Amino acid sequence: MFEKFSDTLTFDDVLLVPQLSEILPKDAFVGTELANGIKLHLPFLSAPMDSVTEAKMAIVLALEGGLGIIHKNFGIDEQVAEVVKVKRFKSGFITHPIAVSPSILISDLTKIREKYGYKKIPVVDKNAKLVGLISELDYFLPEDGNLTVAERMVKLSDLKTAKVGITLAEANQMIHDLRLRVLCVINDAGELESIVTRRDIEKNSQFGNSTKNSEKQLRVGAAVGVGNSAIERAEALYSAGVDLVVVDTAHGHSAGVINTVKALRQKFSDKVIVAGNIATSDATLALVDAGADVVKVGIGPGSICTTRIIAGVGVPQLSAILEVARVLKQVKRPVALIADGGIKSSGDIVKAMAAGASAVMMGNMFAGTDESPGRIEFVNGRMYKIYRGMGSVEAMDRGSKDRYGQADVNEKNKFVPEGVSGKVPYKGPVSNIVYQLSGGLKSGMGYLGAHNLFELREKACFVKISPAGLKESHPHDLTHADNAPNYDVSGF
Ligand code: XMP
Repeated sequence: MFEKFSDTLTFDDVLLVPQLSEILPKDAFVGTELANGIKLHLPFLSAPMDSVTEAKMAIVLALEGGLGIIHKNFGIDEQVAEVVKVKRFKSGFITHPIAVSPSILISDLTKIREKYGYKKIPVVDKNAKLVGLISELDYFLPEDGNLTVAERMVKLSDLKTAKVGITLAEANQMIHDLRLRVLCVINDAGELESIVTRRDIEKNSQFGNSTKNSEKQLRVGAAVGVGNSAIERAEALYSAGVDLVVVDTAHGHSAGVINTVKALRQKFSDKVIVAGNIATSDATLALVDAGADVVKVGIGPGSICTTRIIAGVGVPQLSAILEVARVLKQVKRPVALIADGGIKSSGDIVKAMAAGASAVMMGNMFAGTDESPGRIEFVNGRMYKIYRGMGSVEAMDRGSKDRYGQADVNEKNKFVPEGVSGKVPYKGPVSNIVYQLSGGLKSGMGYLGAHNLFELREKACFVKISPAGLKESHPHDLTHADNAPNYDVSGF
């Protein structure tokens, strides 16, 4: 419990003390469980921000063993479509694949291909019977734009297909032996039932630790707001197969959020509900009592947040995690803690997990990657992508104003933003970032002799450090450090 004037700490204020170790970093197990059997091989979640997580990010993070949370600066249908894209990207048989009619124009087909990102699309007639397959190799643009799909597709008579009942192993063998990109599986009536793709097979063998449900679909989460619209959104998301919804607000300890969580719990008794953001013991108990399975901790630590400056409110993130974790230990049912925001390096992840987090949520770390939304911009010959707070004017104008209790403000110049919009360097594939972050986490566990995250928490012993200690921690006394982690050491 915080008092009138409490001392608090954040990541840079502390270090973990090394301990006798009998394990190598590579052997540390970084798996975690959020709720209801949602297990992650990597305790990393991407933030539901419109410059961070849409389907592309969620797919790759789930393949890597983490979890993406689709932002809600979308209409319900659009957000559901992102969830469905992740769900369709399943290894094995893709049931109900996107298919087109033979009568549509190639110009319309290209729009569908762009929307879903698929290279080959099955063609079915109005009775759902497979009649062909079409890919970008089958036409030229713009010359063929006005032709119909039927005129350019590879016809059924020239396709290799499989019958329903074929096993995944047999399908994979056919794809291998016949050098196929896509294998269409049809039933006795000739109707398209599913497809198996070469890409999925390759991804599968590469990603043994991916986050999947029992049907082998990738897992994905999605954000909702508060009130009736949140219930409506959650209903659509759960129906589309989302694995958890996150009641994502700037102030989780508020009547609107508590009532929304209660209503969701009542309506969806067996579904996973994450709620936040919070930073205190009272808030923890309020959300747990309301029925949350997971609480999300972080008031103002985010790299694009200005809540602490605009509102003068917040709790330094390490103290917030320690406080919420302390209370959760006394709660009778298991409730997981997501540490959200303020992660600048893998070392901060180790500290967050050691303080009691079950997983960390990151925005900045995953922004600027190939998988984040938005284009690369060039400034003075360098590549950047936009990263913006959901409380920035631009994001609020797109829809996230309710996250900051300003749903009824209609004029842009009347918003009171609690976030900024900026650029981060282009970072390439997110898998490279994930590799470095998980490597750093395992390294930290190696120094503490922790085989798993439970042991990390049990063994953790923090020491407070001085500004001189922090300066000593960063590279120093060099004019230029190659491979220095990407954090700001200016000011020293
Ligand atoms: P990082 O540090 O990873 O933080 O960039 C991401 C988290 O920051 C929160 N968030 C905001 N907080 N104003 C805020 O006060 C904002 O505009 C804003 N946008 C995002 C959010 O919890 C996210 O996961």
